[in-house]
Amino acid sequence: MEYIKVSLSNERLSLREFTKDDWKDVHRYASKDIVCQYQPWGPNTENDSKSFVNMVIKDATEEPRTRFVFAIIYKENMIGAGEFNIRDFTNRVGEIAYIVNPDYWRKGIATDVAKLLIDFGFKELKLHRIYATCDPRNIGSSKILEKIGMIKEGRIREDLLVKDGWRDSLLYSVLEHEWKK
Ligand SMILES: CC(C)(COP(=O)(O)OP(=O)(O)OC[C@H]1O[C@@H](n2cnc3c(N)ncnc32)[C@H](O)[C@@H]1OP(=O)(O)O)[C@@H](O)C(=O)NCCC(=O)NCCS
Repeated sequence: MEYIKVSLSNERLSLREFTKDDWKDVHRYASKDIVCQYQPWGPNTENDSKSFVNMVIKDATEEPRTRFVFAIIYKENMIGAGEFNIRDFTNRVGEIAYIVNPDYWRKGIATDVAKLLIDFGFKELKLHRIYATCDPRNIGSSKILEKIGMIKEGRIREDLLVKDGWRDSLLYSVLEHEWKK
């Protein structure tokens, strides 16, 4: 089924919709322990990576569309994913998430991606509140959320079952009027 393809970019990277072949690049990072250590999924088998990409493409065709997963393109390589989910249409709430291939860590890529996703949520989707959660041990992710101007709202207790048991999440958010400033 057809759907409107969204793309986002800044001076050095772009975000585009997934295509079926992206599973190979997804697999390059999603099969690594270090990438999914704080996630409930993974490390991926090839079939897991294929299923993920197929689901992303299928979800893009849903009406109304709530899920936008973008491939991160940096120097012509597909090096990760940025995800935007509309969680509540009535109260105009969205959530962001991101993942980067370890070969490209510590270059500010995820920070750029998070900013692009937030701009998309407020500018294009006209949302009011955008939030993100992360594992309290995930220092890199909390740094990103703080750097882009999100406010730490608190700690959600044992909301996710990961490989080593129940996990708390830190909750961060930014509101439309804060972003406009
Ligand atoms: C977390 C993740 C997205 C960070 O990606 P990245 O592109 O390396 O992040 P950035 O380069 O934008 O880093 C932003 C800041 O965090 C710091 N940082 C990144 N990873 C870090 C780590 N493991 N430990 C401490 N600081 C870290 C960077 O130094 C930078 O700080 P600075 O600006 O003061 O130098 C990446 O490690 C990843 O994909 N992890 C696995 C998936 C994941 O955890 N996703 C987030 C789910 S909540």
